[in-house]
Amino acid sequence: MTVTHRWITNPLPTMSDILKTPPSASADRSGAMSFVDKRTLPAKMRDLLALEDFEAAAKKILPRPIFGYVAGGVETNASLRGNRAVFDEIGFVPQSLVDTSARGQKTPLFGHTYNAPFGLAPMGGSSLAAYQGDEVLARAAAQANLPMIMSGACLTPMEKVRATGHTSWFQAYLPGDITLINECLDRCQKAGFDTLVVTVDVPVMANRENNVRNGYNTPLRPTLGLAWHCLISPRWFFGNFLKTLWHQGMPHFENMGPRVPLISQHGVRGYGQRDRLQWGHIAHIRKRWKGNLVIKGIMSWQSARLAREHGVDGIIVSNHGGRQLDGTVSPLRVLPEIAAHAKGMSIIMDSGIRRGTDVLKALALGAHFVFIGRPFLFAATVGAEAAVAHAIKLLIDEIDRDMAMLGINQLSDLNASFLRPATGARFLTT
Ligand SMILES: Cc1cc2nc3c(=O)[nH]c(=O)nc-3n(C[C@H](O)[C@H](O)[C@H](O)COP(=O)(O)O)c2cc1C
Repeated sequence: MTVTHRWITNPLPTMSDILKTPPSASADRSGAMSFVDKRTLPAKMRDLLALEDFEAAAKKILPRPIFGYVAGGVETNASLRGNRAVFDEIGFVPQSLVDTSARGQKTPLFGHTYNAPFGLAPMGGSSLAAYQGDEVLARAAAQANLPMIMSGACLTPMEKVRATGHTSWFQAYLPGDITLINECLDRCQKAGFDTLVVTVDVPVMANRENNVRNGYNTPLRPTLGLAWHCLISPRWFFGNFLKTLWHQGMPHFENMGPRVPLISQHGVRGYGQRDRLQWGHIAHIRKRWKGNLVIKGIMSWQSARLAREHGVDGIIVSNHGGRQLDGTVSPLRVLPEIAAHAKGMSIIMDSGIRRGTDVLKALALGAHFVFIGRPFLFAATVGAEAAVAHAIKLLIDEIDRDMAMLGINQLSDLNASFLRPATGARFLTT
């Protein structure tokens, strides 16, 4: 007899099914299932057991202004804190005695099947934090069959990263100027990118007081303070800065606006009039850009609906990792209402995800895919591709274990019935 539980979409197996099932049914497991064997890791990675561990390790390597630029939020850091706190407000309700030996986390997105439901978010200045950071992240992502979004604010020409054949996603900050937009689209298309991510939560530069306090500027201003911080960070100074100068000369901001050197007394990065960008430009981009079009930084269902009506293929629900408008709620809080308006559009989320359990909560609330920023850049700082691969494996393993304990075989089995408020005493009234 087959019994279907109200919350379980798969029918429960009969006794003969159970006896027939071979123990090797878990083919699609991405090599997970084990605790990290510390002995197989290089010494510097042995204590890195979770994504959050990479931050402290990178802090020991990076000059203070650069560490602060990556780790920091904006103004009071309210959104930065909220991005983490929100995950603690939600708990799981696992289903028991489900055969989860066939579980897998491969996830389709825009016609490609990735090995896991997460990717590497775009981060400008990656090469400042890690030697050849953009290429390191792109190669590590490709090796793991995960997407990496190349940032338009990075220091490596887009053609160079694309030529490695490893990332096909490019992120642009666009001004409200059709000529400049067309130039960018044509360059991306010529370089061979197939997915364009337009970030829309930076109409003006954010008020990052932590950068001012730490002496971080873009481009970097050659001050005594900066020189001091660089000199007392020898692993970064020799292993990244001097090595970069030796092999490729002074890096430049290569992909948007005028080509400006990384270090300059008076150089100014021209951002164009981003505060003029509006839906009419998205309509224009949609007509001209033949590849996948994604808007990053959507936070309201009204904007999500407009994105869908403009033929956008996907949106990234994001508050930029708490780096733009301080006090913006965590994307997780608005995810369900946005997902309700998706109707065929891919819903992607980022900001604050650090654990496999965070990924599963986001998917249960309506995300199809998630991206993660800082931890992967810190991993690149700590140990280039090997450390990024280690970080990726840690997260894949967490997701795999969590799926088993939650009682699911496929990520598409997830829904809000697996979640309850973890705080407050609301259960007393239900
Ligand atoms: C150092 C750094 C640089 C970033 N640069 C960009 C960028 O160039 N374009 C963009 O759309 N988002 C940028 N972001 C935001 C990330 O893409 C992403 O939204 C955010 O990091 C996700 O939050 P998380 O770091 O908590 O995972 C940057 C984030 C960081 C930490």
